[in-house]
Parts: sequence; C-alpha cells; structure tokens
Amino acid sequence: MEQTNAWWKEAVGYQIYPRSFYDSNNDGIGDLNGIREKLPYLVDLGIDFIWINPIYASPNVDNGYDISDYEAILDEFGTMEEFDLLLEEAHAHGIKIIMDLVINHSSDQHEWFIESKKSLDNPYRDYYIWADGTPDNQPPSKWESIFGGSIWAYDEETQQYYMHVFAKEQPDLNWENEALKNEVFAMIKRWLDKGIDGFRLDAISHIKKAPYQTKPANHPFDPFMNVPGIETHLEDLRDLFNQYDIMTVGEASGVSATQAPKWVGEDGYFNMIFEFDHISLWNKEETGNLDVVQLKHALATWQLALDGQGWNALYMENHDVPRSVSAFGNDTDYWQESAKAIALMYFFLQGTPFIYQGQEIGMTNYPYTSIDEIDAVDSRAFYFRLLEEGRTNEEALRIVGKTTRDNSRTPMQWTADKHAGFSKQKPWLLTNPNAVEINVDRQKDEAESILNFYKKLIAVRKNSDTLIYGSFTHYLAKHPQVFVYERSLADEHYLVVVNLTETPAVVEFPEEISTYHWTPILGNQTPGTSIEKIITLNPYEAQLFARGVAR
Ligand code: NOJ
Repeated sequence: MEQTNAWWKEAVGYQIYPRSFYDSNNDGIGDLNGIREKLPYLVDLGIDFIWINPIYASPNVDNGYDISDYEAILDEFGTMEEFDLLLEEAHAHGIKIIMDLVINHSSDQHEWFIESKKSLDNPYRDYYIWADGTPDNQPPSKWESIFGGSIWAYDEETQQYYMHVFAKEQPDLNWENEALKNEVFAMIKRWLDKGIDGFRLDAISHIKKAPYQTKPANHPFDPFMNVPGIETHLEDLRDLFNQYDIMTVGEASGVSATQAPKWVGEDGYFNMIFEFDHISLWNKEETGNLDVVQLKHALATWQLALDGQGWNALYMENHDVPRSVSAFGNDTDYWQESAKAIALMYFFLQGTPFIYQGQEIGMTNYPYTSIDEIDAVDSRAFYFRLLEEGRTNEEALRIVGKTTRDNSRTPMQWTADKHAGFSKQKPWLLTNPNAVEINVDRQKDEAESILNFYKKLIAVRKNSDTLIYGSFTHYLAKHPQVFVYERSLADEHYLVVVNLTETPAVVEFPEEISTYHWTPILGNQTPGTSIEKIITLNPYEAQLFARGVAR
C-alpha cells in the first residue's frame, strides 16, 4: 500500500536539549535565546522542525521531566515572552517547534500534588494515584519503578502510598479521574492555540495502570506499560490533536511493531512513535560489540510492519542514551567513517529522521573518572546500587560511564574555545575535552566533515519522493557486517549498502540487485565501490546508489 503525503513525513527534525545547546546569557545553562541565536545554523543544516526537551517550570530532579507548572517557563531558560519570540522567529525561518508533553506524571512540587497530599478528602486527592498499604504494612504492589526501587512512596501525613513510575519526586497523574484529564486537555489546547506545531509525548505508554494485584508477566514494567484500556485515553488525545495541523510523536516503550499500526496508522493515536527495539541493543549495562544482525532485524521489523501501514520516527540518539558513535561505531580509529556510516544507514529508512544535537558533528561519550562528574538521577542511583552489590568503584564507574545518559547531555561543541563556545561560564555539566577537535566551527569549513555529510544526506532525502515515501526491501538479513536495503517508488529504486563493522566486508548481492547497473549518489568514501555481483566494502563504508538499466 502506498503512503499518503504529509509535511511531517517530508520533514527532518532536530532534537534540542536546551540546557546544553547554547547559553546566551553566560550563566552556564543553555536557554531559549540561545536556541533563537542558533536558528540560522539549523536552517543551514536543512532542518524543518525542532523538538525541544521540557522548558517548563521544574525543580529539575529529572532535568525538566518533573514539571511544577505546565504553563510557565523555567527561569533558567527564559520567559514566556522569549518563548513567543523564539516561536515567531523559528516560523519566520521556516522551522516548526515541537514541544515535549510530560503528562504521565508531574513534579511533586506541582500545586496539584501539594494539594493532593494535604488530606484524603482534598479535591485534588484523586489527581494522583493513592492507595493503602497491605495489612502487613507493605506497599500496595511489588512493582518496580523504572528508575529503581518500589513504584510506591509512603506519605506519613495521610498514611497512604502514591505511585511514581519514575523518581519519587515524579508522582503519576491519575488518568482515570475526569477532572484531571480535563485540566490536562485544556492545558494542551492552550499550547496548541498559541501556535506550536506539535508534541513529543513523554512516557505516554504508561498512563494506564493494571489492577495492583497484577504480577509482571514478561517484563517488570508490564503492569504499567501499554496496559489494555489505554486506548480510550489515547483516542481522546487523538481527537484533540486532529483538530490541528500538527505533528505528534509518542514515546512508546512496550509497544511492539505488530501493535504499532494501531498507534501510528492513518487513524492512529499519533503520527509516529519512538520505538526502543534498536536502541536497547546498545543501551545495556555492559556494552560489547553490537550484533549487526540483531540491529538490522530490529530496524527492518519496524520498517516492514509500518510500510504502507503507518510511519516511523527514525533516531540513533537522544538525551537518554549514550552517543551512537561511541556505543555502536568506533570513536577512535574510525570516528569519522563510523559516524557517517550510522548516519547514512538510518537516514534513508522509511520515516521521519531526527538528529540529536551534536550527533551531526560526531560528538562522543565523555571519559568519566569519578561519579561526581555524573548528574543524571538514574545513573547515580545505578552506581550506588552497583557498589552495594559488591562491585568495585572502578567497575561501577566503567559500567555507569558507558551507559549514562549524561554522555549525550554534555554541552554542545560549537568551537575549540573554552567551554566549547557553549558559554563563557563553567557549564552545568562538564564539557567533553575533545571539543578542541570536535566542533561545529571546524567542521563547517571542512568539505568532508560529518557536519557537511549530514547536510548532503538531508538535501538528497529532500529531493527524492522515493527516499521519503518509497517502500522498503531488506536484503542479506543474515549478513553479519553489512546492512543492505532498497527503497522503491514506481520505477525508481535506491540501494543503501553499509558496512557496520571495522573490518572489510565481502558482499555477494542477490540477482534482484546484481542484474542492474547502479550509480553511486552519496557515500562516506570516494570513489565509492561500484556494484558488482561480489564486492568488498572498506571498514564502515556506506554508500547510496540509484538503479539504472539492466546489465
Ligand atoms: C522519558 C524521558 O525521555 C526521560 O528523559 C525522562 O527521565 C523520563 N521519560 C521521565 O519523564
């Protein structure tokens, strides 16, 4: 089945982690005016929309994902007037703005929760999920929170437990309460009426909870992840979103590729969702060499499940995972080649590509030497858990250092100057020392830089309906090194061939490919290998070809 056209299918997105993007007032923290100043950079790159991580008022226990006022801007980031100005200027530059919408939970400092905690009969009590303990004084269920420990926190004052899927300072909102739901919907409507262009919906597959007696079946988070009955809430959200010409992308852990058409099909809840199958392959406690076959399987499964049935969100990095070139490429000997290979590999899949800030210059993980250098609440807790389990400091730090999401939150590397040109002040999080080499300033003038490669990828994708809407065919699924796929629309065909390893790779193409002539369009090594029946690719060689006539 063919894909219908839509602006958000043709768009390329860029994710901004505002705290680390650009600090315009030199207080060490990125801000809204900083984003505004960098709009020309984004235009030059070829970006159509930005998704900005939460910028709302927050005590920052989980860096903005604990919102204390949905309709106020965090002081450190600026003011609502500055937001309005950013929106206006972004639109003038042809860039749309997607806001983060965090409605599974709020901060414990939100006035709803402050009220809710006061007494059992407070009008806001049922805005959150409260329950009595068991007769033997245990929490209402044994469920584990995603950030570790029990999902329940005890409140001495009212002698009940409240639920928190994430940190205890992030109490879950009670979606079964109509009054709460109405308030949330009214808030969403006010943002949309302001003229923003869409939402990324945080943790949205967690808004429905199973009865407390439910025991996790396969996964510890099963009782609060994509639980049956969630569709009622999602349909209500969809009906609201459908009143606007916006783009929505749900963060949907626990939703399988088979279930996805229901979420992102023509009549789905969202335009697209972020799946976790591929990213979880390298976001492990102990990362080793990534299994290429598994990665291809994860990506291809989503491609095939949604081809003609829905739409994918394509991403290799975000603010929650380590840098792709370190975790999955090779950030020393093949830094440039592997960063480009990863880029080309995902950019021409079917879906809307998202680039996470710094990915376009091949930013790498941070070389941690002490836990004091790490800020993320979950990573710190993980480190102390590892120590309790008997790991040495060295081991714990190696594991946490490799996996912490702080790796992607270090300041954006603009120049080789002090603090990477991000700020004149010491930034809130350490700057990667390799900023002297890896930075925008340097790469913008180097013809073969990773930055300029991304510009080419964007331009090529933009100019091809086939690379946007074409169907997806996977070849050589079992090849242990190389990802080969084709995109086709009517008579036009493109072929992507990427060696995802640091050793040369021999590829024998099937007849469907080798019967044709193929012209190299874009690659990370020139001159690119031409397609013969059997070819050998260099380490991390990545090429895009267009099909010509039969041989
Ligand atoms: C997912 C967000 O991406 C992550 O950064 C956050 O900690 C959790 N949801 C909780 O909101």
